Amino acid sequence: MTDNPPGREPQRLNMRPQEDVGPPVVQISDLRTQFGRTIVHQDLDLDIYKGEILSIVGGSGTGKTVLLRQMLGLETPTRGSVRVFGEDISEADAQQLQRMRNHWGMLFQQGAMYSALTVFDNIAQPMRELRALPEDVIRDAVLLKMDMVGLGIGDANKMPADLSGGMIKRASLARALALEPQLLFLDEPTAGLDPDLSDAFVALIQSLHRELGLTVVMVTHDLDTLFALSSRIAVLAEKHVIAIGPPHEVLKVDHPFIKQFFLGGRGLRALEVLDERCDEANETED
Ligand SMILES: Nc1ncnc2c1ncn2[C@@H]1O[C@H](COP(=O)(O)OP(=O)(O)OP(=O)(O)O)[C@@H](O)[C@H]1O
Ligand SMILES: [Mg+2]
Repeated sequence: MTDNPPGREPQRLNMRPQEDVGPPVVQISDLRTQFGRTIVHQDLDLDIYKGEILSIVGGSGTGKTVLLRQMLGLETPTRGSVRVFGEDISEADAQQLQRMRNHWGMLFQQGAMYSALTVFDNIAQPMRELRALPEDVIRDAVLLKMDMVGLGIGDANKMPADLSGGMIKRASLARALALEPQLLFLDEPTAGLDPDLSDAFVALIQSLHRELGLTVVMVTHDLDTLFALSSRIAVLAEKHVIAIGPPHEVLKVDHPFIKQFFLGGRGLRALEVLDERCDEANETED
């Protein structure tokens, strides 16, 4: 390990993906975020690679949503750089930013559908904004996306207020996928869903990840979702990423937040499920 600059806490775990994955898709270096007197991030580094599902965990208010918003160019950090697809977001002009936006999709923590638009029009909106696609192409693409996320044609004309929580998540996901992104951001995708819906949503993300080869950046408090999906987990504490690596390695890191977050009762249960899945996978390989 390299020496850390004076006053900088050593990172307790820093593991890259095992396969050769090329340059990072998202590269955050020496980030600092300050609101008034409150410092949210300091000395934060985070690299995210093609094809992985990288989950960010941390206590409430540790700046996970702000970090996602910075990756989307919706907020500018106080210091440091956020590069996406190799380009520095804070230096990108409107045209570059628009081009980058066409390559990513975002599912916001609150769903964030336009309440005055139907499901169909919500999903069509990113395509219509491009002003380049004829309406019949948009129509086919919207119906395809709806089908991908398990919404029926009968849902197309519903208003967001008439949808259940699970359907809102699905419709928001369909919208996030509208422009066929390479990079998908998910903020608490399963929060507020009952366990069955949550499992179904996890299975949906898994199959989309497999079929479309997406890179996924996810924030979640939900341990089942976390263990089912993550290739790597980044732990946000003390204002920066204190550990990043595969779930089993992160769990071994001796830090109070990690102990409390993963190794409480619900953490141990989620871990048992993970172990069972690993055993099953090994048995099928044998
Ligand atoms: N625009 C802003 N102005 C001032 N403070 C802000 C702003 N946006 C976020 N904050 C503060 O930054 C901190 C991090 O907020 P953020 O929403 O990123 O937390 P989070 O980790 O996503 O929390 P949760 O798990 O509850 O969703 C909070 O203390 C929040 O109050
Ligand atoms: Mg948040």
